[in-house]
Amino acid sequence: MNSEKLEPQIRETKDGSSTLFSSQFDQHYHNPNGAVAESRHVFFETTGLSRELASENALTIFETGFGTGLNLLLCLDYLHKSSRKTPVTFKSIEAYPIAPETAEKLTFGDEPFLNQQVPLLANIFDQLTPGINHFEISPLLQLELFYGYFDEYPGFSTVSEADNTGCHFILHDPFSPEVNPELWTPDVFKKLFSVSSPQAVIATYCAATSARAAMAVAGWNVARAKGALGKREMTVASKSADKLSLFKRVNEKRLKERFEKGDFS
Ligand SMILES: C[S@@+](CC[C@H](N)C(=O)[O-])C[C@H]1O[C@@H](n2cnc3c(N)ncnc32)[C@H](O)[C@@H]1O
Repeated sequence: MNSEKLEPQIRETKDGSSTLFSSQFDQHYHNPNGAVAESRHVFFETTGLSRELASENALTIFETGFGTGLNLLLCLDYLHKSSRKTPVTFKSIEAYPIAPETAEKLTFGDEPFLNQQVPLLANIFDQLTPGINHFEISPLLQLELFYGYFDEYPGFSTVSEADNTGCHFILHDPFSPEVNPELWTPDVFKKLFSVSSPQAVIATYCAATSARAAMAVAGWNVARAKGALGKREMTVASKSADKLSLFKRVNEKRLKERFEKGDFS
């Protein structure tokens, strides 16, 4: 893996939680108006994942870009507040893991439970080796963290079309399409489609038309949702149109035509 990347710098966001600034990608990991508030809104509340974490339904979550590990900790937090007894699997991919010394310095504002988990995060980064890593985060939360590039993830090649046991929620959280374009292509969204269950929901903070078009080309039904912290919109998509009944759908046919015409190249 790339050992020459510059370690990202810690910055405080407006809700008191830390984010990182990557000079490699010239971008923050989260919305500077609130890392925790943004992640809760985009990935947990808008999608219904917070409700599923309080149910006993089978639940596998897939994240693109482990970053600081905040979404894993938020899962742990929702589980902690629920009476759920059925284990959850959290799968994530990260090509450029942060140093344990950086993880140790993260803080999550006015969230004592999250703050207590900082040593757990530092330990994950300390133990991480290239390839798939398994961690038992709690009796209810298993982490499968792939240290490597998205394109190299072995899980994409082992799922058949008929596999209905796939992931239920996809948290698509790379940097923006401008600086991280390789993670916003139809091929990426096809791979995510291939590891998803029939009712899967994918969410991203991104509202770019090009990203929505790439999702539509990959076969996802796509909709707009209210963005976090003053951002007008975010995007949700699903294999199942019924799952998007509360949202305003985009015109997938038109987006596919525009993609094929080269409007986004
Ligand atoms: C916006 S940050 C993720 C934030 C994270 N979910 C969190 O809550 O802290 C994007 C992450 O994607 C990772 N990344 C970028 N390109 C990648 C690639 N091709 N394969 C795997 N990870 C990648 C970056 O290193 C970074 O950690």
